[in-house]
Amino acid sequence: MEPDTLRALLDPASLALLDGVEYERGRELQIATRLRSELAERGLPAGLAAALVTQAELRQAAPAKFGPFADSLLFTRDGLAQATRLPVAAHHAGRMRQAALRAGLDFESAPIADLGCGIGADSLAFGGLGAPVIAIDADEVTAALAAYNLRHLEKVTVEHGRAEDFDPERAELLWLDPARRSGTKRGGQARRLNDPEDFSPSLSWAFGAAADYAGTGIKLGPALDHGLIPAGWEAQWVSHTGDVVEVALYHGAAARAPGRTALVLGPAGAAEVSQADLPATATPEDGLGTLGTYLFEPDGAVIRAGLVTALCGPLGAHRLHEQIAYLTGERPAGGTAARLVRTFRIVDTLPTKVKPLRAELIRRGVGRVVIKKRGADIVPDVLRRQLRLPAGDPATLVFTRLGDRHIALLVEEVVEETKDRP
Ligand SMILES: C[S@@+](CC[C@H](N)C(=O)[O-])C[C@H]1O[C@@H](n2cnc3c(N)ncnc32)[C@H](O)[C@@H]1O
Repeated sequence: MEPDTLRALLDPASLALLDGVEYERGRELQIATRLRSELAERGLPAGLAAALVTQAELRQAAPAKFGPFADSLLFTRDGLAQATRLPVAAHHAGRMRQAALRAGLDFESAPIADLGCGIGADSLAFGGLGAPVIAIDADEVTAALAAYNLRHLEKVTVEHGRAEDFDPERAELLWLDPARRSGTKRGGQARRLNDPEDFSPSLSWAFGAAADYAGTGIKLGPALDHGLIPAGWEAQWVSHTGDVVEVALYHGAAARAPGRTALVLGPAGAAEVSQADLPATATPEDGLGTLGTYLFEPDGAVIRAGLVTALCGPLGAHRLHEQIAYLTGERPAGGTAARLVRTFRIVDTLPTKVKPLRAELIRRGVGRVVIKKRGADIVPDVLRRQLRLPAGDPATLVFTRLGDRHIALLVEEVVEETKDRP
């Protein structure tokens, strides 16, 4: 969006018009044509119509991240794509509040610098919890939209500027969410950057900057190489409603204990596991290669954090194979550990070869299969086609390895049983 278009968009008359736009995919031209005449009636530039249509489209997509706040915010396409989901931003805010406490600071008067604030999702949560925030973005339009989005929070100020030029004397706590995508040309596709030195600001700058603050949080992509986590930092992988959304690195008073943790935010509540929960031996062999009554599929955050075996104790479970992220045990998951895994009851072990497997599934009246696999050399779509099952009941199959053996399991997900057990 050009700065001129942005100025026109922020006119209260344009914003009122935006509130009335009902976006419908495929009808963009008709909507823009109607908007052009309404803009002309109000003495606003006709060129604003396209921007209003885009805002209406983005507002329609935004509730997935911003819930009911979506209708009161403005976005860029990249800004929305990169924005933290609000429940996750609320978690960041909680962690920064803990950091302030640990550092002996008053959270409501110790400024947090959000350097690379985007359209302002994290700042919204920090400010919502009562913190003074200095939010900075290097992109002029993004900074202006953040200022609009954060307009109700008196202690939040937004500036157009570069993180690297920020004076650390101005804040006590630091939040960074470096841009991890290449810049987009008009109509072009943003590309994820793999080298942390290409992030903006770069990861090495971010690590260095942390030394100037009482506590720092740096949000990064969940695929981060464990080798990049500096000694003494806490790395927390977070999943939200089944999607692994980030790893956040915490330093100083923001780090609770050095090492890796995984936090799962789900509909049943939050649950966490940490490196301290790992069994004393790095690779416990107990039970390896034997099949229990239940199969556990750890959440992606637990897997990314390398903490699968930390669940063995809480679940009373062991691994099927030393390199595969499934666990098996005799009782369903209970307590908060149940939120860290999906639990399946193992109904039976079935043949792995297509012909006898097909015959067995037909005999059981199975007509549709969900196929899960770990450590198995199959392509679920291809196998599903090869099975050519006639109409019948749905079922879930798991292809994996038990010790050296390839196995196929017929399983049923256990939902209720696992979630509320003490
Ligand atoms: C991943 S987004 C931040 C998203 C934000 N945390 C949110 O939840 O809405 C990164 C932002 O950093 C900005 N940026 C990139 N390089 C920067 C720099 N050197 N200084 C300040 N901001 C920068 C980009 O314009 C982009 O808006």
